[in-house]
Order: sequence, then C-alpha cells, then structure tokens
Amino acid sequence: MIELAPSILSADFARLAEEVRAASEGGGSVIHVDIMDGHFVPNLTIGPPVMRSLRKATKLPLDCHLMIENPDQFIPDFAEAGADWISVHQEACRHLNRTLHLIKSHDCLAGVVINPATPVDTLVEVLDIVDYVLVMSVNPGFGGQKFIPSTLHKLRRLAEIRSQQGLNFRIEVDGGISLDTVADVVHAGAEILVAGNAVFGGGDPRKNAQALLKAATEAALAKV
Ligand code: DX5
Ligand code: ZN
Repeated sequence: MIELAPSILSADFARLAEEVRAASEGGGSVIHVDIMDGHFVPNLTIGPPVMRSLRKATKLPLDCHLMIENPDQFIPDFAEAGADWISVHQEACRHLNRTLHLIKSHDCLAGVVINPATPVDTLVEVLDIVDYVLVMSVNPGFGGQKFIPSTLHKLRRLAEIRSQQGLNFRIEVDGGISLDTVADVVHAGAEILVAGNAVFGGGDPRKNAQALLKAATEAALAKV
C-alpha cells in the first residue's frame, strides 16, 4: 500500500496544526517530522517541545526523521514527546544495532536512513531488525532540493533483497518527490513517500497531497 507522508519542514510553522490538518484531509496518512541539529546536517529545526504540540494536533502517526549526531541521547525524549516512528541515519550511528533496539524499546517503529552516497550494502546486517528503510533522494538538510535519480536503484535493490530474504521492512523515500518524480520512485519500489515542498511549498496543501497520492496510486497500479 502506498502512503503519503507530508513533511512539515516546508509548512508554515506558525500554523502547524492547520497545515497538518489540510495535508491529512488531502490523504497524507503519516506526518514526517525532520529533526536537524546543525552538526549532522547544516541546518537546525525543531526538538521535542514541537513534537509534543504536534502530538496534540493530529492522530496520524508521527514519523520522526533524526538528522542528528548521537541520536541515542534524544530517542527517549522524542518517543516520550509522541513520535510513533523514529529513524536514524546509518552514517550517524556507531552502534546501529543498539540504537535500533533502543528505538524499539520505546515502542516506536524503528527505521534506518541512508544518504545518497551510502550503499544499501551497509544495511545488510540490520534489515531483519528494522521496520522501515528510508532512502534519501537528496542530501539531507533542506526542503525543496532536486531529486537525485541515481538513488532509484537503491529502492529496487531493497525491494529485491526483501523478497529474496523473506523480510518485511517497508521502503520509504525522502527528497525531491513531486508529480515529476513520484511515478519513478513508486515503480522502483517506494511505498512511503515523503513530500515537503510538493505539499506545502505553494497552493493548497489539500489539493497538492491529493494530486501526489493519485499519481502515486496510479503508478502502483501500473506496476503490477
Ligand atoms: C530533507 C528532509 C526532507 C524534506 C524533503 O533533509 O529530510 O524530509 O522535508 O523536502 P522536499 O520534499 O521538499 O524535498
Ligand atoms: Zn526527512
């Protein structure tokens, strides 16, 4: 099943509850929350207090994408603030196995993320632990960047490994997803589509979300 995960990074932060409601009315079924620390990525965003407010604003699952150094230090705080899914970057974790188990110990779904320059092979030892794998299709740090097509093969590879090994993690993609790129990522195997700029960057988030989801669902039907 294809799901749309609107990323609030491109939303109006003074009207977050309204923006989230609009995106969910348009069919967004997971809210993607980008956490940046100014170290792992060259940008700063939000922390647990905003997550706590979002928790009150929506019943949808909150997908917390940690782009931070030393994630173990903050996982309990984000879980307690209301995150349902927490993903960490392979590149930021010295003890990835431990970190993924830490996320699960807080009753959250555990995801692992890879940057465009990181191969799928670096994940082979954790694919049986994770609930989802997030493939970055831009270098993380900012919304509104251009999709990097060379990341598509990683979606295909993950889908292939999953069926070969009988695993059941889900495949998420993040960065530059728009009406121009959505069919390609769905055909390659992405099931959870993060979109920031394409939902909140202009026009009505409700209609934007609807249009993206429609294009994604059509692409999925054309695939089988
Ligand atoms: C980028 C973030 C993304 C971002 C995607 O570092 O991880 O979630 O919001 O934004 P778009 O969809 O505008 O590329
Ligand atoms: Zn993200």
